[in-house]
Amino acid sequence: MKRSEPIDEAIILDPKRYLVSETDAEGVITYCNNYFQEVSGYSDVELLGQPHSIIRHPDMPKLVFKLLWQSIQSGENINAVVKNLAKDGRYYWVFTEFHIKKDADSGKIIGYMASRKAVSKHIVAVISLLYGNLLRIEQNEGMEAAHGYLNAFLKEKGETITFANIMENIHKFY
Ligand SMILES: Cc1cc2nc3c(=O)[nH]c(=O)nc-3n(C[C@H](O)[C@H](O)[C@H](O)COP(=O)(O)O)c2cc1C
Repeated sequence: MKRSEPIDEAIILDPKRYLVSETDAEGVITYCNNYFQEVSGYSDVELLGQPHSIIRHPDMPKLVFKLLWQSIQSGENINAVVKNLAKDGRYYWVFTEFHIKKDADSGKIIGYMASRKAVSKHIVAVISLLYGNLLRIEQNEGMEAAHGYLNAFLKEKGETITFANIMENIHKFY
């Protein structure tokens, strides 16, 4: 069955369960747990070997994924609030913790792991406002302009605040 068009209906997540997936160093999915499959609506046969963009929601600004990849490729773990698209077109917001898997001997990055859980309605409200602005700027003026907007937003929170700080401490900021 093909992926449906996005619809304006949320999937309510069980706050006690995690949606876990793993990739190789290129971001190709190598593992996903049962809850990830259940919520996304895809079986592991459909997910393994694919990139995560299979669940990318069109409401997500590209800049968020650019910053995310920059961070993990440079060996820095990061957290991010992400809106994902299920196979049936519904959406689900998650707080995602990314972990980097390194070869014990060489220290080389061999893959990544993402562990996702439900996020509060309040955080979703604040973040969807920010992401909505980033997406609109990205579509009208490009990614650089969106990055400029994000930097101004972060500066307002504090001189040394980064995107990673906001995402990590989101419960304290909002
Ligand atoms: C371990 C890991 C987990 C990821 N999880 C998600 C996810 O849940 N949703 C998502 O849209 N992108 C996720 N991504 C980012 C995707 O690789 C991709 O950058 C993103 O979907 C945007 O697609 P694009 O790069 O083709 O524009 C993840 C990446 C990694 C390495």
